[in-house]
Amino acid sequence: MDKHYLKDANSIMGGLGELNERFAGKTVLITGVAGFLGTQFAHYFLALNDARALSRPCRVIGLDSFLRGVPGWLDELKTRKELEIQSVDVVRCEAYARADFIIHGASVASPIFYRRYPIETMDANVWGLRRLLEHARETAPQSLLFFSSSEIYGDPDIDHIPTDEDYRGYVSCTGPRACYDESKRFGETLCLAFWNVHRVPVKIARPFNNYGPGLRISDRRVLPDFFRDALNNRDIVLLSDGRATRTFCYVSDALEGYLRLLLSNENGEPFNIGTASPEISMGDLAREVIRVCGKEVGVVEKPSEDKHYLSDNPQRRCPSIAKAQRRLGYEPRVSLKEGLGRMRDYYLDHLHDE
Ligand SMILES: NC(=O)c1ccc[n+]([C@@H]2O[C@H](COP(=O)([O-])OP(=O)(O)OC[C@H]3O[C@@H](n4cnc5c(N)ncnc54)[C@H](O)[C@@H]3O)[C@@H](O)[C@H]2O)c1
Repeated sequence: MDKHYLKDANSIMGGLGELNERFAGKTVLITGVAGFLGTQFAHYFLALNDARALSRPCRVIGLDSFLRGVPGWLDELKTRKELEIQSVDVVRCEAYARADFIIHGASVASPIFYRRYPIETMDANVWGLRRLLEHARETAPQSLLFFSSSEIYGDPDIDHIPTDEDYRGYVSCTGPRACYDESKRFGETLCLAFWNVHRVPVKIARPFNNYGPGLRISDRRVLPDFFRDALNNRDIVLLSDGRATRTFCYVSDALEGYLRLLLSNENGEPFNIGTASPEISMGDLAREVIRVCGKEVGVVEKPSEDKHYLSDNPQRRCPSIAKAQRRLGYEPRVSLKEGLGRMRDYYLDHLHDE
């Protein structure tokens, strides 16, 4: 197993402590297994078995349409008997496997790609989810986790930063981000309806900018773009004036939050999962990446070739995570400096993978 994923899996196992055992003997269905978070989930479950941390091993069924190819780790691990991979579109899958836990991560998460594939993006978030909810209604899993997004808040006004789960959002239903934002919003409504009407035990996570190993360098999200430039000894290109701010949550912290939510009884309500600080501007983040990479390159501004790149782009994004702290015992631990260092090490080993 790749040492970077193993390190993250060990952090998650350490953070979850006795909760890990709740996966003993269980089958977990992960949609979007080839993606960033799906990859990390799969490695966490396999690492549990490798470490003999469970009284009975768990099993993973990973499903993906492999729109952007089969990742190298899957080729490496495909012979493992507790891992079954299905190459299928979650929207068109004829029969989903029965599982104790369902993690629905299949979607198009990168803004450049969801603007390119708006219909596929909405389909996965709405029809894929709807079909999984029906499947859950018929097969009664212990829990189903839907990935919504911090994007459902749109561009929050200043009075709602940090943003808590009660904020209703400031979102366009016709703008260039609408295919993603609105389908996540509708997805949440679907989840609530299936919980209220059919008692499907559905959990809703609102992730705020996760980063770390597994995030493809070609993904076109901000951190992979910055690392790609810096590690190739090029100036980092900012596609904005660099003043918009975000907080970034290292992936092992985020996964611990999602797993705590999955294992909880918190059905039918949303939870922000992210980091509350530091809130950092894109310009400062670029300079931090340069420092972490030990390079002497600069930061330049250049307009994106995607003319909608900045339309409806939130100026500030910063969560309140108080609800997850209080109700799930969620507590992110990895500092931005440490997380960026781990991501650099991963990219140094995987720079030429794709
Ligand atoms: N990573 C983050 O910071 C973040 C932030 C907000 C929301 N989310 C949400 O979390 C989930 C996982 O995010 P990620 O970063 O791993 O995304 P990702 O883009 O890295 O991975 C998504 C995976 O889903 C697959 N997929 C897409 N459509 C599919 C379909 N119809 N059928 C089967 N597979 C399909 C893709 O091939 C890809 O492997 C997504 O729902 C995303 O919207 C993530």
